[in-house]
Amino acid sequence: MSDASADVVRVQQPSGPLLGTLQVPGDKSVSHRSLIFGGQARGTTRVRGLLRSGDVHATWRAMEALGVAIEDRGGEVLVHGVPRLAEPTSVVDCGNSGTSIRLLSGVVSRIAGHTVLTGDGSLRRRPMARVADPLRRMGARIDGRDQGRLAPLGIRGGELQPVDHDLAIASAQVKSCLLLAGLDCGVRVREPRQSRDHSERFFAAMGRSLTRTEDGWLELAPGPLEAVEVDVPADVSSAAFLLVAASLVPGSEVRLPRVGLNPTRTGVIDALRRMGASIATEEACDGVEPMGTLVVRHATLRGIRIDGDLALRSLDELPVLAVAAAFAEGETVIADAEELRVKESDRIARVATGLRRLGVQVDERPDGMVIQGGVPASSEPALIDATGDHRIAMAFTVAGLQAPGGVEIHAADAVASSWPTFYEDLASMLPGSPT
Ligand code: S3P
Repeated sequence: MSDASADVVRVQQPSGPLLGTLQVPGDKSVSHRSLIFGGQARGTTRVRGLLRSGDVHATWRAMEALGVAIEDRGGEVLVHGVPRLAEPTSVVDCGNSGTSIRLLSGVVSRIAGHTVLTGDGSLRRRPMARVADPLRRMGARIDGRDQGRLAPLGIRGGELQPVDHDLAIASAQVKSCLLLAGLDCGVRVREPRQSRDHSERFFAAMGRSLTRTEDGWLELAPGPLEAVEVDVPADVSSAAFLLVAASLVPGSEVRLPRVGLNPTRTGVIDALRRMGASIATEEACDGVEPMGTLVVRHATLRGIRIDGDLALRSLDELPVLAVAAAFAEGETVIADAEELRVKESDRIARVATGLRRLGVQVDERPDGMVIQGGVPASSEPALIDATGDHRIAMAFTVAGLQAPGGVEIHAADAVASSWPTFYEDLASMLPGSPT
């Protein structure tokens, strides 16, 4: 691999396997929530293993702008909750982070004052009506570009009223936004399918168990949050890149300790096992967030169908699963994943374009793609544009480890959103790295 600090990274087949143990950085979803929930709880929330990345930094700065003191003690971060959040004195920049802007929309809707939430070019293109519409029904006044559907969003909050909101699409960001908005007044949300449940776990750990009715409504009653201690697991969405890389590169064996094994997040492990991957779970333990050590060894993969709940439980990992599929035997179908089009980029289009540049046959569909697996044909480096999308950069880096012509990733610095040391960490598992 070339210089990791450059925006262009060239990746080629390594001379040997990936070997060793890697502590993957902390879970992004849990890190955001540690700061957001902790900042509104009574007392001090102690967070171990917080992810240090661009997205989480955006939430950190935003919570400070809302009057929360956050103390960096190195291995531990202390979030001193405040009884009432403050109106920010300037625009709050959420950078590249959809989780920040959507969860914070709910948070600031409770502040009697005016907040402007914005972000980078990618974030300003992502749909915000899914949070703005129900928040307006709760009483927040929200405006933004494109008739209030795009950031920057101006939010005038205050006392809210409870609503019942039936989500059109399963989304943990929308669900969490509304639950956070309902802290003082209560709220009921229902999703068509169970999305990741980190917020539900935070509410329960902070003394606010949610009730689930027989017909699927999640109910939050008004009341305070109490500070907790949070052990952030390693991010299974980041671990996914190594699970695929080690599966593809012959002779590899990689240990990944303390990876989050929340069942609403482990679709990628299930999908890879169905493809024939060798992934063992050791030393699993159950806490607020379950975690365990994953051991992955090279294996021959075969194509499968990924749809329905499995697609939802592996949504963020579908780009790297598509890369796995490109090198697997037979056909892989990815369906029911239309939400991928409105992530940090249109990931269906970007993945299909990237795989075609590798010489892979891909049929792009509105809600996914069909990939014909095998060794990609191209002996030229495939050019990949990762602008604004960390997971595209990392997924195609993994492809470069196996593609005959390698890859050249442009705007590879996008990895800073979720894994700033990705290239160094990957290099440490490859031949030639000092042990
Ligand atoms: C997240 C929820 C998911 C996921 C995102 C993180 C969260 O988004 O794709 O990376 O932390 O709540 P949606 O809720 O929009 O599906």
